[in-house]
Amino acid sequence: MSDPRIGRQIGEYNIDAVLGEGGMGKVYTATGPDGGRVALKLVKDDHARDETFRRRFYREVQIAQTVRHPNVVPVVATGEHEGLPYMAQRFIDGMSLDEKLGREGRLDTHTAVRVCTDVAAGLEALWEAGMVHRDVKPANILLDETGRAYITDFGLAKDTRGSLLTLPGQALGSMDYMAPEQIRADAVSAATDIYALGCVMYECMVGRPPFAEAHGMRILWAHLQDPPPDPRGLRPDLPEEFSRTLLVALEKDAAKRPQSAGEYARMLAAAADSA
Ligand SMILES: Nc1ncnc2c1ncn2[C@@H]1O[C@H](COP(=O)(O)OP(=O)(O)O)[C@@H](O)[C@H]1O
Ligand SMILES: [Mg+2]
Repeated sequence: MSDPRIGRQIGEYNIDAVLGEGGMGKVYTATGPDGGRVALKLVKDDHARDETFRRRFYREVQIAQTVRHPNVVPVVATGEHEGLPYMAQRFIDGMSLDEKLGREGRLDTHTAVRVCTDVAAGLEALWEAGMVHRDVKPANILLDETGRAYITDFGLAKDTRGSLLTLPGQALGSMDYMAPEQIRADAVSAATDIYALGCVMYECMVGRPPFAEAHGMRILWAHLQDPPPDPRGLRPDLPEEFSRTLLVALEKDAAKRPQSAGEYARMLAAAADSA
């Protein structure tokens, strides 16, 4: 991929290659003055001059710095380059859960439980800081060589106590993982992230998120009113108890979901062990 920033210097870092690109940011691998590798994130070129995106990015940086947890990707430096904010994070030498699912299709229950437990712990640290992630999905979950999972990308995180920087016309979150209350633009809470985590776990087990067969905007209706298709219909070898437990996070009513992400992970672990 050709990119004018490759080979250039940003702050103390030398940009080596493009690592990834999502809705808002562009992430590069870069080398620091000590020779160490980092993941350097900037606002995407298309948005770099847009004040709202820049403000959003500053917020993201601030959240990422505030939440220190073994399952949250650590920020090692922040700065500005030619008027543009950047953030250097520890480089997670592995792959995103999205890539892993692309390669392997689905996970075994043990691996899925590990991912769920780790991501749950990271999310709980975020909630304790008064934030809701709102964009929990496989591309925002990173896996290192040891199999540890990290939650990342706080670009859409909402401060539950304060105001949200609104971006006109921007759909919030990915439709595949979007909780009913998020679709209705009702109040979001930790339960909103638990729903998304449930969709991710469902995808880890059967190879696609719960309502992937719905076309276009139909998927939003499906989240609102359709029961998720039985995972065992797509993967008959899945233990029944595990399959049933997967779905508890996908309750339409936020109050009926597990009370914490950790509880959901523990329920899945117990169901995997009993199989
Ligand atoms: N610290 C990191 N280590 C390794 N890869 C990363 C790191 N941060 C991001 N990536 C890669 O870059 C992609 C986009 O990063 P993300 O922070 O989600 O940006 P965006 O806001 O553009 O979605 C991720 O899906 C992942 O593949
Ligand atoms: Mg992302």
